[in-house]
Amino acid sequence: MKFSRYMTDWLYGEDGYYATYKNIGKSGDFYTAVSTSKFFGGTIAKHIISLVDEGFLEKDATICEIGAHHGYFLADVVQFIYTLRPALLESFQFVIIERFEDLQRHQTKYFEDSFGDVIQLTHYKSLSELHCKNAFFIANEIFDAFPCELYYKGKTAQIENHNIEFDVENEWVKEKADKYFKDRGEIAVGYEEFAKEMANSCDKFEFMTFDYGEMSARPDFSLRVYTNHEVIPFFDEKIKREELFAKSDITYDVTFAHVKDAYEEAGVEFLELKPQMVGLIDMGILELLEMLQKNVDEKIYKQELEKVKMLILPEFLGERFKMMRLRKV
Ligand SMILES: C[S@@+](CC[C@H](N)C(=O)[O-])C[C@H]1O[C@@H](n2cnc3c(N)ncnc32)[C@H](O)[C@@H]1O
Repeated sequence: MKFSRYMTDWLYGEDGYYATYKNIGKSGDFYTAVSTSKFFGGTIAKHIISLVDEGFLEKDATICEIGAHHGYFLADVVQFIYTLRPALLESFQFVIIERFEDLQRHQTKYFEDSFGDVIQLTHYKSLSELHCKNAFFIANEIFDAFPCELYYKGKTAQIENHNIEFDVENEWVKEKADKYFKDRGEIAVGYEEFAKEMANSCDKFEFMTFDYGEMSARPDFSLRVYTNHEVIPFFDEKIKREELFAKSDITYDVTFAHVKDAYEEAGVEFLELKPQMVGLIDMGILELLEMLQKNVDEKIYKQELEKVKMLILPEFLGERFKMMRLRKV
């Protein structure tokens, strides 16, 4: 079996890791920037408002999150738009792209519990169902959750009974590996199609995405499994793949050059790639904190400040995570 098929089944099969509602978050297998502080989504809200002010986004633009899981990120964006520019809540269209109905139901409920009937949230199973004129797309940690092929010195892996053999000739994988100067490692499958779907879904948009990785490819394997806050490299001698299959998260570092190339092939312009901490500071996370300091007591401010430090300090999420921006104009 192709490794990409195995990874698809692991994450998205009927009983796959993402197919059912999982407690990703502080008590779950892992937590993402989204569950760290509301000021992550808040800073994106501030950026969206600046795009309206500079005329890139219309007042009736679509604000769309892809791979939202709980829906916390988009909900935090909504909450801060309410604080900073409430009139936009009436004119924006809020959309989540979520392929699993179970997750769609949880996201709808979270929005109803948070905002009553003030916000109309629309779901689509895939970007191919969306058609709009002007949009802002956001995604946190989705490109590290695309299936991949494994490559080692000219050969592509296959997997049977959870055992890997590098004995397949696959021209497409080899071409990508050569392009990104890799003699071993993961080659993501599906970026090209995803970029085309986004480009076809909307006439004019900005896409902002956050992920763990670098512009250039790593020279080794980064594939790993997260289970109960433990990280196990996929090629670790002690790994019990059959026990972890579909019950834990499996991920790898993103090669942003591959994402960038897929979007450029689809006619979307690359704007920038930078550390998450730089991106959040550029977009005004510190100004938002100042606003908070003026409006709440010292204790609440300090609590939030500690959470924001997790997002922007280099030793936590700040440097290892990157922010990429792309635009179709
Ligand atoms: C690591 S989780 C991140 C969840 C959430 N964004 C967060 O930050 O907590 C990866 C998510 O990406 C979604 N995903 C992966 N590939 C996708 C695709 N092609 N289209 C839409 N969602 C996708 C998965 O379903 C999953 O919800």
